[in-house]
Amino acid sequence: MDHFIYKAGVLHAEGIAITEIAAAVGSPFYVYSTATLQRHYQVFDDALKGMDHLICYAMKANSNQAVLKVMADMGAGMDVVSGGEYARAIAAGVSPEKIVFSGVGKTAEEMEMALQGGIRQFNVESEPELLVLSAVATRLGKLANITLRVNPDVDAKTHAKIATGKSDNKFGIPMAKARAAYAQAASLSGINVVGIDVHIGSQLTDLEPYEIAFSKVAELTEQLRADGHTISRLDLGGGLGIPYQRSNTAPPLPMEYGEVIRRTVGHLGCEIEIEPGRLIAGNAGLMVASVIYVKQGAERKFLIIDAAMNDLIRPAMYEAYHDIIPVNEPALAAEPEPIDIVGPVCESGDTFAKQRLMPSLKPDDLVAFRSAGAYGAVMASEYNSRPLIPEVLVSGDQFAVVRPRPTYAEMISRDRLPPWML
Ligand code: LLP
Repeated sequence: MDHFIYKAGVLHAEGIAITEIAAAVGSPFYVYSTATLQRHYQVFDDALKGMDHLICYAMKANSNQAVLKVMADMGAGMDVVSGGEYARAIAAGVSPEKIVFSGVGKTAEEMEMALQGGIRQFNVESEPELLVLSAVATRLGKLANITLRVNPDVDAKTHAKIATGKSDNKFGIPMAKARAAYAQAASLSGINVVGIDVHIGSQLTDLEPYEIAFSKVAELTEQLRADGHTISRLDLGGGLGIPYQRSNTAPPLPMEYGEVIRRTVGHLGCEIEIEPGRLIAGNAGLMVASVIYVKQGAERKFLIIDAAMNDLIRPAMYEAYHDIIPVNEPALAAEPEPIDIVGPVCESGDTFAKQRLMPSLKPDDLVAFRSAGAYGAVMASEYNSRPLIPEVLVSGDQFAVVRPRPTYAEMISRDRLPPWML
């Protein structure tokens, strides 16, 4: 459920008409709903009720400071995957005791930054990483809490580019090597084993892969405890999918996901950590764009809009589907017709939708891409020298620009001429 609905024929974000925001900030832009972000956090919190737990929002999905602050105020921790994300989490006021550090390629500098600033745990993904972390922590006189991310070799049944739990993916330590890796971890200075980590992929629409992976984690917990390790935390990753296409059957609900957790690992007495990103931010955001031209090609019609693949890369990168709806509600009688929805970037890949059924639209009409709050703005680039589009946060009947649109001068000013050209 989200808070983007038509009121009096105009799409609103909570209490604000999208047209009002467009008039103030120009097109295109991203807009996020505070109430939806909060609701999604709450749904996970409810799903894990009765189990000691921490929801570490996977901020890679949307790392705007305002979004992070909404999460932090709800009590969320953060899952960070870079020094930059760590810095953003701290800047948004997240307590270091609630930050977990994931990622397959943490550098010694990033480890030092987190150890100095404070960190809940590192989710370590390989033996070489373990050695570097031990060296950094020892040099700093710190003790690094760690889990080892295990790779359960489970098919997450999602897009190949976002599946992470198969043995041929770069992520985690193979289950078969886990006990040896834990023994190594226990022998290293500066390292304190606290638990196990697993994350099998993103946009999962089936609970069975979770069931399999978490059951393997439960079994490993027993084995590691028998080996003498203290396993008090289980970080189960993120990945629960969202409904991108409203006409399709909806993915499982967080409540059902919570039941799988309870059933598979609930008896172990561990603190449960989860790292949802997309489910929290995805349907809490829209990307709004406006029509530049309607073009009749040889065989098909094109709706050319002012947003492009550099603003929202998901369709080009993962063949992702996003619902695209007119901001002004079409009349019920309006007959939709198939049209290709494309951006102005000079690549055929800059296509958001092919032969999408849309009501008739004309230049300057606004359209909204649903489910664009996660992996939208964060994956944007300035390709074709198109400045990053602004981000707006709505709360009730208020809205604010939470990242302004850079001017062309600001964009260019980041470049420097070398001294010999001056
Ligand atoms: N934890 C770890 C270790 C992750 O790698 C990820 C996502 C998450 C949590 C959060 O997963 P979520 O709950 O958001 O599914 N750009 C792609 C998605 C990449 C996901 C990467 N890892 C997309 O637009 O679909």
